[in-house]
Amino acid sequence: MSKSDIEHSSDSEANGVTAATAPKPTLWQRFKAHMKKWWWVYLIAFGVIVLVTVLPIIYVGIPHFASKYINNYEYDTEGLEITNPRPTAFHVKQKKSLSMGGGFSGSGYLTAFNASIRTTDTNEEFAIFPVPKIDFSDGATIEFDTDLDLTCVECLSKIAVQAATDENFAILATAHPDLKLSGLPTAHLDIHKTMSMDGYNVTEFVNEQGSFNVTSLKLLDPPVDGYNFNATISVRNPTPFSVEMGHVTFNLTLRGDKLGYVDLPNLKLGSDITDTLVRGQVDKSKLVEEALLGDGDGATVTIGIHGHSCEYNGQDIPYFSAAIRAVSADAQIDLLKYASSLL
Ligand SMILES: *[C@@H]1O[C@H](CO)[C@@H](O)[C@H](O)[C@H]1NC(C)=O
Ligand SMILES: *[C@@H]1O[C@H](CO)[C@@H](O)[C@H](O)[C@H]1NC(C)=O
Ligand SMILES: *[C@@H]1O[C@H](CO)[C@@H](O)[C@H](O)[C@H]1NC(C)=O
Ligand SMILES: *[C@@H]1O[C@H](CO)[C@@H](O)[C@H](O)[C@H]1NC(C)=O
Ligand SMILES: *[C@@H]1O[C@H](CO)[C@@H](O)[C@H](O)[C@H]1NC(C)=O
Repeated sequence: MSKSDIEHSSDSEANGVTAATAPKPTLWQRFKAHMKKWWWVYLIAFGVIVLVTVLPIIYVGIPHFASKYINNYEYDTEGLEITNPRPTAFHVKQKKSLSMGGGFSGSGYLTAFNASIRTTDTNEEFAIFPVPKIDFSDGATIEFDTDLDLTCVECLSKIAVQAATDENFAILATAHPDLKLSGLPTAHLDIHKTMSMDGYNVTEFVNEQGSFNVTSLKLLDPPVDGYNFNATISVRNPTPFSVEMGHVTFNLTLRGDKLGYVDLPNLKLGSDITDTLVRGQVDKSKLVEEALLGDGDGATVTIGIHGHSCEYNGQDIPYFSAAIRAVSADAQIDLLKYASSLL
């Protein structure tokens, strides 16, 4: 984003109700000079708004998407956490200090404001992000610990699906914070920015070497609560923030036929690699038959993984579920690795 993406309002608006007593040109020039210096402040504010709003969809993926995104916006998501997802809200938390250095002098603040996030096709508002007041001098500390309320869950679900299936999508952010720099009139900012982003092909991610590993697998014989195996898998979180997702279920298929399902009862993607428990039910005889008779390489079988649902505290989380359901991928599993427990 360049500083021109955020317009400040006209001279008279910039000086608020005191427009009658027009500022001396020198003041306005000083103001503009400061704007040049301080554009990064609204860049930060803008980064916060946008990142936090699209985060629930970024979880689906995804190195390419996330890093491109972050590079574009120069906003560090380290330490960012998304927790307690509910059907129409989730919690976001981050504390981040930025030091600009470079001999900046002066100080000021950006007032607290509500940013409105909309879909670009229907112009429907789907989230309001309350951005706290941001003070700055030669740096700034941004701290938020807040619920993000969703006003149109369907809109976010639609975007989540686009993000997970490699389509392009866009959102529109609007906000009207005031920027106050010491000794200068208050500027009323008018942020109105459409952001286009590329989705990410989740199928490719799942197939990538090392995106997840099965680190232990145990057959349950007799089955426990309907599950005939449990395992631990380690999942690489391709994003630099943590996301609590809850209870995620995938259906499994073999050559298009139903093979069973897996439950990840408590999936929380940590900042790098997360171990999580998996319980599942598979048709063992189908697997063994495929390993012995299939046309795969040795005992390698191709298992279809199809996202089914995501629940938290027993409630469906529609925007996560929509993205999960967009996941349909094949995983190559070498049964020989697990032969001792299967056969
Ligand atoms: C943001 O919206 C909430 C709810 O409508 C309101 O209570 C709050 O005062 C608003 N904050 C700002 C800074 O306008
Ligand atoms: C995603 O990648 C897979 C494998 O490379 C490909 O078969 C599929 O068509 C891609 N999906 C989209 C939506 O481009
Ligand atoms: C999976 O195992 C490979 C090889 O040992 C390793 O390079 C990769 O980092 C592992 N991935 C995860 C998510 O643990
Ligand atoms: C799988 O279940 C067995 C028996 O209930 C238990 O002892 C083991 O710890 C479980 N393994 C994992 C990875 O949860
Ligand atoms: C997953 O399995 C359930 C139960 O068999 C079924 O109702 C659902 O349609 C399946 N979903 C997908 C995406 O295959």
